[in-house]
Amino acid sequence: MQKKIMPEWISVGMLSERTGVAVSALHFYEKKGLIKSHRNASNHRQYPKHIIRIVSLIQVAQRTGFSLDDILSELEGLPNRTRVTLEDWEALGVRWRQELDKKIIQLTELRDMMTDCIGCGCLSLERCRLLNPDDQLGEKGAGPHRMSQ
Ligand code: FES
Repeated sequence: MQKKIMPEWISVGMLSERTGVAVSALHFYEKKGLIKSHRNASNHRQYPKHIIRIVSLIQVAQRTGFSLDDILSELEGLPNRTRVTLEDWEALGVRWRQELDKKIIQLTELRDMMTDCIGCGCLSLERCRLLNPDDQLGEKGAGPHRMSQ
């Protein structure tokens, strides 16, 4: 069987088929500025074929817990916004791994605090580290304080 040669420009349907991402999600990515299309003479959206790599990268980043805003910020920092090179991917991988390590530490701390709360239910600002970590509200002085605004 002869291997199909991918055209330089692909439709949203083909992009969806190649990445496994729903057309509606691809439109959402475009609305958020993560990917860009051009209109052909028939006014249909066309994407450069190398956008497949960017959509794949977005999927990986989302699976590892990054928000679309974080991903957009990373993509905007790439030397060439439209193409992701192996070097770009390696640099992103290192940064994302560091972020994941931080998140793991934070979540482990939260899990350990949660363990103290299980079966307690006091939700005391003085006692509960989950509700008031490091007594942040105490630093604001005596009296009532809002937790968030
Ligand atoms: S609910 Fe009581 S210590 Fe957190």
